Amino acid sequence: MTFEIAAFRATDARRMSEARRIRQIVFCDEQGVEAHEEWDDKDGLCEHFVLSENGVGIGTARVRPYGPGISKIERVAVMKHRRGTGAGKALMEDIMARLMAANVATVVINSQMAVEGFYRKFGFISEGSVFVEANIPHVHMIWRPESSSPPSL
Ligand SMILES: CC(C)(COP(=O)(O)OP(=O)(O)OC[C@H]1O[C@@H](n2cnc3c(N)ncnc32)[C@H](O)[C@@H]1OP(=O)(O)O)[C@@H](O)C(=O)NCCC(=O)NCCS
Repeated sequence: MTFEIAAFRATDARRMSEARRIRQIVFCDEQGVEAHEEWDDKDGLCEHFVLSENGVGIGTARVRPYGPGISKIERVAVMKHRRGTGAGKALMEDIMARLMAANVATVVINSQMAVEGFYRKFGFISEGSVFVEANIPHVHMIWRPESSSPPSL
């Protein structure tokens, strides 16, 4: 499967609307996340990603600076009809490789419990107890260089 991945800031209106389209479908329409929770005030702080197939966006994520040497991956989503094809993996590997190249020492994720095993594949380890965010059970996960070898681009 050949995927293209674009990295951009929220000021890139064309790409941002593609990211927002996917987030609306996956998080708001499919998962029932309320608009005020999905559309927070943090998009302007983030680097955004859209994964496309044949020119059509099918996946997205954003990365937010979270402290010195720490980044937080958020809003990871692949359109339902393209899940299980390696799209999420391609997106995560691209993001992780960029973070490693930027010498980010720690990467964190608040993972939905249903996809904890997905992030584990990239070396994330769960920490602490389950909590509810946007009415969905989550667990905090953390990646440090010693957790696993960084993926290569
Ligand atoms: C989580 C998500 C992004 C995964 O995307 P995907 O394109 O289906 O994932 P891939 O096909 O690239 O799978 C990569 C690997 O993760 C595994 N995997 C995928 N979903 C998984 C899950 N829910 N639990 C455990 N492992 C999972 C696959 O089996 C595959 O393993 P392999 O490499 O050993 O074959 C996608 O299911 C999704 O968008 N879910 C809805 C939105 C969501 O919940 N986002 C997470 C917010 S925290």
